[in-house]
Amino acid sequence: MRLRRNPEAKPFLIRHPRVFVPAAEHVSEWRGKWKSRFARPDLPLYVELGTGKGQFLAQASLRHPDINWIGVERIEEPLFQAVKKAEQTRAEAGEDPDNLLYIWMDAEKLPEVFANGEADRLYLHFSDPWPKKRHAKRRLTHRRFLDLYARLLSSSGDLVLKTDSRSLYEFSLEEFKETGWTVVEWSEDLHHSPFAESNIATEYEQKFVSKGMPIHYVRAVPPRFRDDR
Ligand SMILES: C[S@@+](CC[C@H](N)C(=O)[O-])C[C@H]1O[C@@H](n2cnc3c(N)ncnc32)[C@H](O)[C@@H]1O
Repeated sequence: MRLRRNPEAKPFLIRHPRVFVPAAEHVSEWRGKWKSRFARPDLPLYVELGTGKGQFLAQASLRHPDINWIGVERIEEPLFQAVKKAEQTRAEAGEDPDNLLYIWMDAEKLPEVFANGEADRLYLHFSDPWPKKRHAKRRLTHRRFLDLYARLLSSSGDLVLKTDSRSLYEFSLEEFKETGWTVVEWSEDLHHSPFAESNIATEYEQKFVSKGMPIHYVRAVPPRFRDDR
């Protein structure tokens, strides 16, 4: 995602009460305590990795006020837009539940920022497919990430993936299988499947659907190797 550098973005994000910027010295400040940052710490915690311009979170956090939501994004310009979009969506709806935060960081830092079992769902929406074989390790469903996610997820946790990329979908299914995850739902055409009804579209998704492209969808649960966490 290439967005023009906006000089307002960095100061806005650093000061924004909904945004956490994990600087090296306090990267683990909220590890294991994320739920306590919300008005209702008893609610499940759902985390979107690679939030982009934030349409999904802006809508999902209003449609589901009974869930605490965190968006993780590594690039400042889309994150700036995501935070603004949520503010605008909430102003238009006349509702502003305390259930939404953002973390400005690379997903590589997940184990430093989140404790084992802390998240109840992870979303990967239109993650970069990194089509070249030599870049496979960068794909967010590479087994090194799946191992991180398995530790981060609670005992009833799961992971939801949506992608336009057939190759990322197939690669992900293979990685799930090889690492002991169980695929519990899947579709090669989400918008013409029973899962469409509860779907909330992202920016990328809308773009691909408007071109008539099918969206691939997977929901998977991790292997339960809780003893070695
Ligand atoms: C193709 S965009 C999709 C954005 C959004 N999820 C959507 O569906 O419209 C992928 C986003 O993931 C972010 N991203 C990619 N790798 C990441 C990583 N390792 N950690 C955090 N964000 C990442 C990118 O900066 C980009 O904003």
